[in-house]
Amino acid sequence: MSNSFFPLVLLMVLCTIFSTSAQPQENPSTTGDAVFTLQVPTLDETTLDNLLSFGYYRKSCPKFESILHNKVKEWIQKDYTLAPSLLRLHFHDCSVRGCDGSILLKHDGSERTAEASKTLRGFEVVDDIKAELEKQCPNTVSCADILTAAARDATVELGGPYWAVPYGRKDGKMSIAKEADMVPMGHENITSLIEFFQSRGMTVLDLVVLSGAHTIGRTSCGSIQYRLYNYKGTGKPDPTIDSKYVNFLQRKCRWASEYVDLDATTPKTFDNVYYINLKKKMGLLSTDQLLYSDPRTSPLVSALTAAPSVFEHQFAVSMGKLGIVEVLTGEDEGEIRTNCNFVNAY
Ligand code: HEM
Repeated sequence: MSNSFFPLVLLMVLCTIFSTSAQPQENPSTTGDAVFTLQVPTLDETTLDNLLSFGYYRKSCPKFESILHNKVKEWIQKDYTLAPSLLRLHFHDCSVRGCDGSILLKHDGSERTAEASKTLRGFEVVDDIKAELEKQCPNTVSCADILTAAARDATVELGGPYWAVPYGRKDGKMSIAKEADMVPMGHENITSLIEFFQSRGMTVLDLVVLSGAHTIGRTSCGSIQYRLYNYKGTGKPDPTIDSKYVNFLQRKCRWASEYVDLDATTPKTFDNVYYINLKKKMGLLSTDQLLYSDPRTSPLVSALTAAPSVFEHQFAVSMGKLGIVEVLTGEDEGEIRTNCNFVNAY
């Protein structure tokens, strides 16, 4: 087997092992000498659990995606750092009470006020898109759908993959800071990351692949300073960081409020260099570096290092899964907010 082919095969094998997604169910009426028919729905007809659909706004707001696309592009052209911020905002939204726009609510004690939300950005982009959509198709497009699509378009803007987003999420009415503080902040061990993902219906593969979002964006120095000096009381930096990289970080991160790129090599490009950095002991968050050393995740890191196109493809698949975590769809489950910052008054 050629060297370049091996990682691909390895990844396929690992995907099969790690995937906990639904296996094909046996239809009781077609067991035994079964006759199977294959029905291929069109994209517009395709629904997820008959809840979300790709054609959801086709009649009610046909320009939704193009309005959103132009706005996201405009903002990112002015400030590319908003692209990673939108992607992270979507992750934090979906991590707490599902993808329901609860991270956007702005009131005392809401998720947005939590410690884990302190450095979240991109709210003004969502507000701007929402304001335009309220002009074009009032009371129609949810904030949760806007954020989900904005995260996709932001990824594409920095060279990442495209994935089709099904729509129909309702906006939630509850947002509790304490719950937002459950979102991992980079100090966790792999077991708790795996549990966090699995409790949201995602696998170890999704964890490793979605951590690849750290190929763009930055962290505040406050999140990593503990690795740079007196790590666990040893008087030395974390030994799992490359020594030259530690030097660089010590100079770059004098103040907790400063920022440093998560991918030291190609911070503005959505690529698989994040995984290559892990092999060089250049994972910035300890949770990133641990993916390389833990036996449950390291084979996946190795495979993704060697196969950039597999990363692209699987990132799109895993983002699709993230975007449907615990979505609210029933009339009485949520609402279409008119302003993403507040629940509707009526
Ligand atoms: C696996 C668990 C994860 C942990 C522990 C984690 C942790 C972090 C931390 C600590 C930061 C820096 C925050 C700061 O100090 O400013 C960050 C940034 C970021 N995270 Fe994650 N994250 C995780 C998963 C994800 C996922 C699943 C995504 C998206 C799919 C994501 C996307 C991002 C992005 C794009 C940034 C940069 C944000 C910016 O530049 O504004 N992260 N993450």
